[in-house]
Amino acid sequence: MTSHSLFLLPGDGIGPEVMAEVEKLVHWFSKQGIARFETDRGLVGGSAYDAHGAAISEADMAKAQAADAVLFGAVGGPKWDKVPYEVRPEAGLLRLRKDLGLFANLRPAICYPALADASSLKRDVVEGLDILIVRELTGGVYFGEPKVIGTRDDGAHKGEKYAIDTQVYDTYEIERIARVAFDLAKTRKNKVSSAEKRNVMKTGVLWNEVVTRIHQTEYPDAALDHVLADNCAMQLVRWPKQFDVIVTDNLFGDVLSDVAAMLTGSLGMLPSASLGAPDARTGRRKSLYEPVHGSAPDIAGKGYANPIAMIGSFAMALRYSLNLGDWADKLDRAIAAVLAQGIRTRDIASDAMPANASTSEMGEAILKALQKIA
Ligand code: IPM
Ligand code: MG
Repeated sequence: MTSHSLFLLPGDGIGPEVMAEVEKLVHWFSKQGIARFETDRGLVGGSAYDAHGAAISEADMAKAQAADAVLFGAVGGPKWDKVPYEVRPEAGLLRLRKDLGLFANLRPAICYPALADASSLKRDVVEGLDILIVRELTGGVYFGEPKVIGTRDDGAHKGEKYAIDTQVYDTYEIERIARVAFDLAKTRKNKVSSAEKRNVMKTGVLWNEVVTRIHQTEYPDAALDHVLADNCAMQLVRWPKQFDVIVTDNLFGDVLSDVAAMLTGSLGMLPSASLGAPDARTGRRKSLYEPVHGSAPDIAGKGYANPIAMIGSFAMALRYSLNLGDWADKLDRAIAAVLAQGIRTRDIASDAMPANASTSEMGEAILKALQKIA
């Protein structure tokens, strides 16, 4: 049996609590002889800062580079609000994305029928929703240079500060994320919506042009539409089921995926996969799996956190990195079964279905449901 190396970076806040539920699953898979895992763990975010004064150490970066998959919890919290910008907790995550070349971020938003009442939108708007946001993750305004705060040295505002962020996209960056979106669309309804702001931004004009060309030359059978990113946000809350795959840049993808998360009932439901280009020799992609939710410092350590986004991220690792797609399907079915049974953490509770499970109770219920399906 091949052995898979997993590098766990639980991070801060609720990260370690939700990661603990994935570790139970990893342990079960090994014990059952389904797959063999070698796990190692490191520090990222505030916990790494406290230990070594950096948002991630060089040693842990090397381990992340070498692993078959990185599982990431969450970073940040008020404790580190005042640390220098370069070593703030989020810098660890951004460095992992950049240095591992994880340009494609897949964020599926699925509304399980059992959770339609937990959403702030009406049941018929969200029930049965199944969309996929493909977010470009290593370019755009997150990484563009210059990125500075300076001081005006002349003119009417002399002595005042100014700030610059830079949005840059190269053609190859748009081409490769478009291909990921069209390839994934083929396995679904084969419909891609490309979101940008070509009415205001040059990067939007180029984005539109390149996605159109990739469609015409490589994926003529797919349906493609272009939507302005602000309109896309509006359409997501008006009638989200019109979408299948949404492809968009780093910043719009960040915002649109939080909107999409609420369609599923809770931010605690959304998993994600971040993938690099396939290695020319082995075909293997570098990868990192993380829940879309943050570190939720207000509820950390209380057992309130919903582990489903983290467990769903592990399911994505089984599918995209570990060649265990059938087990990913089973795990997704176990999550659906537990929700259908009425098991609820606080974030997905409703009047009809009050909260009745802690983080570990939810994790254990999913494991039990998986054992039954297996
Ligand atoms: C996300 C998060 C991150 C981002 C933060 C933590 C840097 O919001 O993954 O959506 O902005 O990309
Ligand atoms: Mg975000």
